[in-house]
Amino acid sequence: MTAATSTLARAGVGPARIEAELLLAHVLGVSRGGLALAGPVTPAQQERLRDLVDRRARHEPLQHLLGTAAFRYLELAVGPGVFIPRPETELLAGWGVEQARRSVDSGGGLVVDLCSGSGAIALAVAAEVPGTRVIAVERAAPALDWLRRNAADRAAAGDRPVEVVAGDVTDPELLADLAGRVDVLLCNPPYVPDGTAVPAEVAEHDPAEAVFGGPDGLAVIRPVLDRAARLLRPGGALGIEHDDTHGTAVPELLRADGRFVRIADRPDLVGRPRFSTARRADAGS
Ligand SMILES: C[S@@+](CC[C@H](N)C(=O)[O-])C[C@H]1O[C@@H](n2cnc3c(N)ncnc32)[C@H](O)[C@@H]1O
Repeated sequence: MTAATSTLARAGVGPARIEAELLLAHVLGVSRGGLALAGPVTPAQQERLRDLVDRRARHEPLQHLLGTAAFRYLELAVGPGVFIPRPETELLAGWGVEQARRSVDSGGGLVVDLCSGSGAIALAVAAEVPGTRVIAVERAAPALDWLRRNAADRAAAGDRPVEVVAGDVTDPELLADLAGRVDVLLCNPPYVPDGTAVPAEVAEHDPAEAVFGGPDGLAVIRPVLDRAARLLRPGGALGIEHDDTHGTAVPELLRADGRFVRIADRPDLVGRPRFSTARRADAGS
């Protein structure tokens, strides 16, 4: 464990001790908390741990090595071809859960997650709010494979099945049959401005189309706001994550659109602007 921790620390990967423990727990097939009770490590397990530590030291994401990412109450399958869900997105998902709960309580519960990736937001809402109908939209074929796998796993675990739609959120006809009927629309789009320096884990292992959002980072957000205005029912709730440099730009886009009210921006746990929320105005307002 000391050698693994030192290798990760030297590579600038961290928190090194915790990551080394998580990798060892993965090799031994126990939880990190169960390490203290685990038996001796066999030579084959030591070899496997060394291999994983070396890969992590070369900045392969921890979640790819473990095969899973934690998101709220879920463990999602992730790997090459899909964006690893981030802790900060749990806030948007949590806000979406609250909105979905209120909607179900008042007889609704139709939730759409655009740019769904692994399905993190959609599956969290479906797991935490019984009575919802959740639709997850994703364009990239590799991400769709992970999304379908996670959706099937959660349905097998007893959650209400999430409906997966292969679609492009820039398509004005997307989900046209649901126009004016959606209660809650959530989206974590690609939003990093093109050319921004990102860590090796992101540059080499997250799909570029999941991360970069055009020259100003708003290329996907702009059409998504139009999709939201068309799909949401009057009073329906929108929550959209954005780059921490866009805490003013996204609310301004919402105001300029003219079809949204109660526009607000919300910070993440370290106080950076993280997602915007709004309500669809009543028709005619
Ligand atoms: C930042 S990731 C978010 C994934 C997931 N919602 C999450 O929070 O972990 C953005 C996702 O949007 C997808 N995407 C990018 N452009 C898209 C488009 N035009 N239509 C549909 N999906 C798109 C990417 O493939 C990627 O899976």
